[in-house]
Amino acid sequence: MARELRIFCSFLIFVGVMHIVTFVVTGEPQVPCYFIFGDSLVDSGNNNKLATAAKANYRPYGIDFPQGITGRFTNGRTVADLIGEFLGFTEFIPPYATATDNEIRTGVNYGSGSAGIREESGSHLGDRISLDRQLNNHVTTISRLSLLQSNKTFTNEYLKKCIYLSNIGSNDYINNYLMPNNYPTRNIYTVDEYAALLVEQYFQQLKMLYDLGARKVAVFGLGQIGCAPAEIARFGTNGKPCVEWINDAVKIFNEKLKSIVNELNNDYPDGKFTFINLTSISAPQGDLPIPSPPCCRVGEDGQCVPNSTPCLLRALSVFYDGFHPTETANTVIATRSYIALSPMDASPYDISHLARL
Ligand SMILES: *[C@@H]1O[C@H](CO)[C@@H](O)[C@H](O)[C@H]1NC(C)=O
Ligand SMILES: *[C@@H]1O[C@H](CO)[C@@H](O)[C@H](O)[C@H]1NC(C)=O
Repeated sequence: MARELRIFCSFLIFVGVMHIVTFVVTGEPQVPCYFIFGDSLVDSGNNNKLATAAKANYRPYGIDFPQGITGRFTNGRTVADLIGEFLGFTEFIPPYATATDNEIRTGVNYGSGSAGIREESGSHLGDRISLDRQLNNHVTTISRLSLLQSNKTFTNEYLKKCIYLSNIGSNDYINNYLMPNNYPTRNIYTVDEYAALLVEQYFQQLKMLYDLGARKVAVFGLGQIGCAPAEIARFGTNGKPCVEWINDAVKIFNEKLKSIVNELNNDYPDGKFTFINLTSISAPQGDLPIPSPPCCRVGEDGQCVPNSTPCLLRALSVFYDGFHPTETANTVIATRSYIALSPMDASPYDISHLARL
């Protein structure tokens, strides 16, 4: 009951905020371009042609998405899609895998399911586009844009106006540290050492993004992986609602991530980086979200069983499969990262503020 009530409250808040957002979104987008980096939480089809088990280009994924099945790991729109709408983009930002010259002017989505900050994360599932490779792809996009715009000064100024969203790191836990049979990291590093190592690498990657012209960057912290149905099924909860030690590990990562975001703001006064706190956003009352069963029938791998029939009350479900939120949950996340409801949601700026800077 408490859970339903909480979801319902988020809904009311969401409906309230939607009014403001609808008001803002008229005419031109807030920024000319929007680039998306990350994993399956934002992937919009980049994995479809890769040799990997981490794909979502089959039913029942995409059942509530306007264009149907696209490779998005949810029933409808992702957080990145929704933020794009709030920013005023009338089309979804195209995946890098298929983006045409005409499409890249408004941005590119580089997200790749199972990808991580670390190169090897997700490798037991097959190919994936790690964050380093996503950054290399961005270098290629910039060359394409430079050719199209045929004015280097213009392109440089243009890139500074875009919003950049980065949502990555979950697979460095789920498909790396939490799988000691497939990856050595847990035998080498303590939870604290591993978080420090990840965040140091992410710091370098975000600096590279800055060097490539990014000035408005929203960095998403990790959600509470210990509350994902697939992790609960794997590790058990000892009578608690979630796998506490996993959430503790994620918390350490998030705290360190927030501090490097502050450090980037100090190191680069003309760069505006902001940290989005998913813990704050997903728990409106400040306590742990109560985990809920996934909407679709999931296999051993936590993904929806192909062609299975998903639950009917998708609008009231938090998880679509064993790992990924439903469009409803994505809407709450996107809405509160766009316009923060609590000062904890986004710091120092929410995305609507970032767009106006
Ligand atoms: C190139 O772009 C800059 C910045 O928008 C502009 O000031 C300049 O006039 C442009 N140069 C040419 C040759 O069009
Ligand atoms: C995120 O928000 C939660 C809940 O408000 C808070 O306890 C936590 O310290 C925040 N995390 C960071 C890294 O700021």
